Amino acid sequence: MTAANDSGPVGFIGIGLMGTPMARNLVRAGIDLVVWNRTRERLAPLVDAGADAAASVDDVFARCPAVVLMLVNEAATDAVLERGTEAFARRVKGRTVVSCGTTTPAYAEALAAEIAAAGGRFVEAPVAGSRVPAENAQLVAMLGGDEEVARQVMPLLAPTCRATLYCGATGSGLRMKLAVNLYLTTTMAALAEATHFAAAGGVDLATFQEAIGLGQTASDLTRVKLPKLVAREFSPQAATSDALMNTRLVLDEAAVVGAATPMLRLAEMLFAETVALGAAREDMSAVVRTLEERASVSRSLSE
Ligand SMILES: NC(=O)c1ccc[n+]([C@@H]2O[C@H](COP(=O)([O-])OP(=O)(O)OC[C@H]3O[C@@H](n4cnc5c(N)ncnc54)[C@H](OP(=O)(O)O)[C@@H]3O)[C@@H](O)[C@H]2O)c1
Repeated sequence: MTAANDSGPVGFIGIGLMGTPMARNLVRAGIDLVVWNRTRERLAPLVDAGADAAASVDDVFARCPAVVLMLVNEAATDAVLERGTEAFARRVKGRTVVSCGTTTPAYAEALAAEIAAAGGRFVEAPVAGSRVPAENAQLVAMLGGDEEVARQVMPLLAPTCRATLYCGATGSGLRMKLAVNLYLTTTMAALAEATHFAAAGGVDLATFQEAIGLGQTASDLTRVKLPKLVAREFSPQAATSDALMNTRLVLDEAAVVGAATPMLRLAEMLFAETVALGAAREDMSAVVRTLEERASVSRSLSE
């Protein structure tokens, strides 16, 4: 089977927290990469690594048979593709568009239909893992779309992934990703709550970190997030605003499929409060700030 990048360079649009390490891994693997980002300065490290900076979105689509999008949300994806315009149809005709961002399955299904109508192909490939797993090429991509096209796309995502999983028709990869995110966001909130509880009771946090890390509680999440919680170092690997957006995407899909999600509702409330505290662009582990704020309010009420 031919890979999606056999017939020309690969385009990569969206050089953000995730897009930067992902694109860098593709360049390191020898893929001929053409990059574009709304904020042009973010392209510099990739150009240094060997990528070619495109002059415009049109330029990316004109040069690349396959274009990967790693954009923050649906609105950004629509804005970049200029969906609904003549430019959209011209760009995607004969192209394979690979969307790695997290959106609703319904959004992907509608976009896939519009791209197909314009003579292009669409594969969704949302990823599990945050900035550190991306830097270490340890993401898990969950692909949805036509199986043959998805399998052609896998080799071009492989250099940034631990695994590329085919999940089924368009929407299936995103439903898989949302299920993974439900587990991730509720676990993140629970880990922050446990750390807050331990700190409030005067537990030694270094030993707490060791106890979590040595037991059946250990995971990549605890290895990456617990040191941040203990050191109170909230530089973003996955931003709180993104965690909030993700909880809401899962809640929307839960309503569509009729699933009960009480833990997710609590996590959504906590991430929303954290954003309201001004921590939108801090790491999602900053959700601990909300627990501290609640504890401080209850203390002052009981005084
Ligand atoms: N961070 C994680 O841990 C993580 C993990 C798995 C999946 N995801 C998903 O991956 C996607 C990207 O996440 P991220 O953390 O990389 O987000 P991010 O750092 O906020 O970057 C997103 C990209 O979207 C671009 N963008 C935003 N609005 C735009 C607009 N209106 N027009 C054009 N470009 C626009 C940004 O460009 P500028 O540089 O110009 O702002 C940036 O390149 C999201 O869907 C997220 O849910 C994230």
